[in-house]
Amino acid sequence: SNSHIAVAIDGPAASGKSTVAKTLAKRLGLIMVNTGAMYRAVAWATIQHGVDPSDSAAVVAMLDEVEFSCGVSNNLSTVLVDGVDPGDALRQDAVNSRVSKVAAIPEVRSLLVEMQRDYLKLGSVVMEGRDIGSVVFPNTPFKMYIDASEEVRRKRRAAEGIIDDPTARDKEDSKRKSSPLVVAEGAVKIDSSELGIEEVVDAALEVLRERGAPAELLAKAK
Ligand code: CDP
Ligand code: CDP
Repeated sequence: SNSHIAVAIDGPAASGKSTVAKTLAKRLGLIMVNTGAMYRAVAWATIQHGVDPSDSAAVVAMLDEVEFSCGVSNNLSTVLVDGVDPGDALRQDAVNSRVSKVAAIPEVRSLLVEMQRDYLKLGSVVMEGRDIGSVVFPNTPFKMYIDASEEVRRKRRAAEGIIDDPTARDKEDSKRKSSPLVVAEGAVKIDSSELGIEEVVDAALEVLRERGAPAELLAKAK
């Protein structure tokens, strides 16, 4: 299990992290872990339980009453709240507006970071989020920060038909005290504004190659 590797992919909202992480994981046969879904699950639970997301004491008390569990299905991470998969509800507007608030609470972060690190017991992972290279796996050599211009990111969200101002969340995520969105030390920056998904995936594979990923892993990339 200690031979398992972690590929860390961080970046702002709508930079293309999850699409790239999913494609890269599929090409390499690795588990893809979407950590945003875990923070979204906590935000969703505050709605279900009528908890004010800005009241950190109430959110922390909720963590003792609600069971969050993570798993894997078809090589993709899953998250359950009291045994229930919230599904598409994780992308709803009410969750978008609450998620950065619960994600700023240190107790929420430490609970989820522990669950995220546990994935490495199951196999090698491509994990995407905001603090994967800085906090979850600071020692991995395989770190990337995917960015894109604000305009491109707004257009990508709008094209998905999702009501969300990704750049407003980025501001909240960047200014918080606990694990803010930062370019992790040693991370390779990839600007995806002008790139297609496959081009970003190729750039990510190049980072793995340059940083000495196992040859048998890279040989799987088609
Ligand atoms: O998909 P999108 O980029 O819009 O967001 P996401 O990755 O689903 O993350 C939703 C929110 O969860 C972010 O805006 C952050 O507030 C929080 N998050 C975090 O704090 N740390 C992570 N590792 C992942 C997400
Ligand atoms: O996970 P994150 O919020 O960073 O972004 P995403 O949900 O993976 O991607 C946002 C949208 O941008 C998706 O509809 C992608 O198809 C599109 N896109 C991309 O991800 N990467 C590109 N290089 C070009 C487009």
